[in-house]
Amino acid sequence: MWLARALQSQGFGSRKGCVLRVRSGAVAVNGVVRDDPEFEVDPVGLELTIDGVTWPYREKAYVLMHKPVGYECSHKPKHYPSVFSLLPSPLIERDVQCVGRLDQDTTGLLLLSDDGQFIHRMTSPKKGVAKVYRATCADPVDAAMLEALRSGVLLNDEAAPIAALACEALDDRSLQLTLAEGKYHQVKRMIAATGNRVDTLHRVAIGDFVLPATLAPGSWCWLEAADLQQLEQPWRSVMS
Ligand code: URA
Repeated sequence: MWLARALQSQGFGSRKGCVLRVRSGAVAVNGVVRDDPEFEVDPVGLELTIDGVTWPYREKAYVLMHKPVGYECSHKPKHYPSVFSLLPSPLIERDVQCVGRLDQDTTGLLLLSDDGQFIHRMTSPKKGVAKVYRATCADPVDAAMLEALRSGVLLNDEAAPIAALACEALDDRSLQLTLAEGKYHQVKRMIAATGNRVDTLHRVAIGDFVLPATLAPGSWCWLEAADLQQLEQPWRSVMS
């Protein structure tokens, strides 16, 4: 692949802009400045340094963000800044999308990608990829509430009750809830249906992948192949 083409594919501007950037001497390939836009690069293990910042070449972008409170998962946010404002411009230019949305006041594990098939696999209820949330509630969590969430609660606009895959109390006002799908405000609506109310909500895991404690709120990192495998693990009950 030509260097200018590789640069363009990574979100560094138009073809012409990338050609000019390479010619100006601002781009290094695996640490060596190359000023020929037609310089042949091997995408495997390729690192591009642009104006001193090094980028790993990624055919598709798979990004993990620790979503902070007070950000909307939208390109056109209404009341709060967008989570996309926390990403560098090449990722925006690559048109990464949120893999399912979190509410502005929800924190935790948020995926973003430009791979439409991956987004579909992660969000389709048929694929059975579990999303794990921790909620603190306004009122105490009791056995009846946990049992209602496990056996199914009826939400407005839904024909049939929806059950959590798993649900357990963490302390007297908080619980962990595992869901197979990601309907609009699903956790808040399910907990409201039991007569309680969510105070704070945090997504801790998707599939077998747990949000790393080392990723600070507002930060992002690339996901590696092993992470993607963990993310796509279908849910299996610890009871089975
Ligand atoms: N369920 C909710 O109610 N809100 C979220 O942000 C995610 C799941």
